[in-house]
Amino acid sequence: MAVMIAPSILAADFAKLGEEVRLVENAGAKMLHIDIMDGHFVPNISIGPGVVQSLRKVSKLEFDVHLMIENPERYIEEFATAGADIITVHIEATRHIYRLIQQIKALGIKVGVSLNPATPLDLLTYILQELDMVLLMTVNPGFGGQKFIPEVLPKIVALSGIIKEVNPNCKIQVDGGINTDTARLVSRAGAEILVAGAAVFAAPDPQTAMKEILQAAEEEQQSRNR
Ligand code: DX5
Ligand code: ZN
Repeated sequence: MAVMIAPSILAADFAKLGEEVRLVENAGAKMLHIDIMDGHFVPNISIGPGVVQSLRKVSKLEFDVHLMIENPERYIEEFATAGADIITVHIEATRHIYRLIQQIKALGIKVGVSLNPATPLDLLTYILQELDMVLLMTVNPGFGGQKFIPEVLPKIVALSGIIKEVNPNCKIQVDGGINTDTARLVSRAGAEILVAGAAVFAAPDPQTAMKEILQAAEEEQQSRNR
């Protein structure tokens, strides 16, 4: 699969969110990463389903909703109705991950499971075959603009090997501290969907920034496949 950038609106200007989304859509983005934070699972608070619903009216992008909330099972239906195309839940946020995965799939949308930097891959053993995407956090979730954690790189390599055997259609997404330099590292390791917040929206020209990150990732992926 071709590598892809999913811009994270967490770093966008919320006073002109629609315009910011249009900007990355026009620059060729296919997926929009939407971070939901509740002030409990992570220290920060972001947005809720109402904003997703408003954005749905102005964008055709694939909405990739990253739930960093406790009791995610309570809100799945609301985010699906608001327009999520894929919902990613944290394995650390629920006691019943298998049930939660089935709950999301039953709504006819894609499902992702996210692991914090220190959470081992073993927890995916009995659910991987059910997933469309695994999100490996490359920062501690909660804030944009943090530094990439390089210890996650061998985890991406290991997951990439497992996925080939168990569920080749499942995508590896990475999130946190992605810029042109780290995009090369994660692509080489096997990541296919790169979330980028600050490196896109805090750049002087977000469209060029997004294209440059994509180009760096593509170059690396090609040399990996050679
Ligand atoms: C962090 C969020 C990320 C965040 C990434 O908890 O899940 O999606 O927006 O931001 P950057 O790319 O700035 O590290
Ligand atoms: Zn995220």
